[in-house]
Amino acid sequence: MLTIILAAGEGKRMCSQEPKVLHKICGEAMIAHVLRTTSIEDALRVVIVGHGAEQVGAFVGDRAETVLQAEQRGTGHAVMMARSHIEAMADGLILVVAGDMPLLRAKTLTDLVEWARQNRAAATVLSAVVEDPTGYGRLIRDMDGNVSAIVEHKDATDKQRAIREINTSIWCFEKDALLYALDRLTDDNHQQEYYLTDCVEILVQAGKKVGALPCDPEEALGVNNQLQLAAAAKVLQRRINADLMLQGVQIVDPENCYIDARAVIAPGVRIYPGNVIEGETQIGADTVLFPGNFIESARIGSNNRIGPNAHLRPQTITGTGCRVGNFVELKNVVLGDGAKVSHLAYCGDGDIGAKSNISCGVIFSNYDGVRKFRTTIGDNVFVGCNANLVAPVTLGDGSYIAAGSTITDDVPAGDLAIARMRQSIKSGWAAKRAKTYRKK
Ligand code: UD1
Ligand code: MG
Repeated sequence: MLTIILAAGEGKRMCSQEPKVLHKICGEAMIAHVLRTTSIEDALRVVIVGHGAEQVGAFVGDRAETVLQAEQRGTGHAVMMARSHIEAMADGLILVVAGDMPLLRAKTLTDLVEWARQNRAAATVLSAVVEDPTGYGRLIRDMDGNVSAIVEHKDATDKQRAIREINTSIWCFEKDALLYALDRLTDDNHQQEYYLTDCVEILVQAGKKVGALPCDPEEALGVNNQLQLAAAAKVLQRRINADLMLQGVQIVDPENCYIDARAVIAPGVRIYPGNVIEGETQIGADTVLFPGNFIESARIGSNNRIGPNAHLRPQTITGTGCRVGNFVELKNVVLGDGAKVSHLAYCGDGDIGAKSNISCGVIFSNYDGVRKFRTTIGDNVFVGCNANLVAPVTLGDGSYIAAGSTITDDVPAGDLAIARMRQSIKSGWAAKRAKTYRKK
């Protein structure tokens, strides 16, 4: 089986520099979702690239082969680029999937292939009946209800535009029929493009069977502009959150939590509104995320309490029972079991040992303007408020750092370091000052 993914288009309607299929939805590029959906079939996958070919190709990597469509002359033309792959297929069926369909489900694809097989159709299009068909190709059915053609919105008459059954741009073709139709496509239409959709009429006129399998309209959303991107993200987020909740994650307000498709969250985790979780974040059981955290590719242990309003940046790892509080930023830092960073701190590039306490306002001074350095803190260390730890620096197990210290040298285990001016008292100073002013 061969799957051809169309991803060469410029995506003009996105009004963006980025290739359309690399726009992110729930944290991942649109095409990543399509690659995941199409990975169920034991199929050879070919991605047609063109606009931003290098970037898209690099993103696809070894997940699929890429073929260049140097000039974007339509969806039919894009499929023509994979002609040698089509010809080389022994198995008779070829799937064509548009790269801008992130809501498509894997099960729908297998149903489509199954339907095509059982009905021995030369071509089967996945269709959908949608509320607003504007912009989509419309399915034209004959008196007997058989699909006879697809007309693009721009080429359609008013009467055809009233049809609400649309082409999703997901196809299953029989190999020889596809080659036959590709040879006969023309660009004689409004956009002067080779439309893949014209294959329907060509095959029907050659007396071949063309079928349409309707799918859940929710899956039919093609992303062509920023509005549709946001609409698709909403749907996908709802699905991700629903899956998590059914697995036992408590999401207090699912409409207000943004969780990456790749995040792995254990049952028993409680998530308050306003959390944004990106990347391959992992969160262990019974952890609570208070409102408003931004978590990027972090690994959070079980029984943690995070936030409100914490920022966990990539390569942050926390052990069991940690506390990360209000307005704390962590980056590339490892927290041992029971470590606490409860308020207003920045910890970047370091290790914080088990049960150590980082008090309010502590800063890991990790950057000299050119290079980054690590701060290493042992177990059971107490770092007082507003301390600056100038890396590279090591605080031994059980050491104490006095509040307000700027620590530039290593502190041995069990010792106290104070690095600030000693306080002096000017006795009766206020009264003396007042007297001076009164004289003047
Ligand atoms: C297409 C269909 C339309 C359908 C809609 C569903 C055609 C002619 N039209 O329209 O019937 O209702 O999808 O969303 O097939 N692409 C290439 N090379 C090209 C042109 C496009 O690879 O030369 C790729 C695009 O990157 C995109 C996909 O094909 O991933 C679909 O192209 P797009 O321009 O989005 O087509 P639509 O106007 O949405
Ligand atoms: Mg489209």
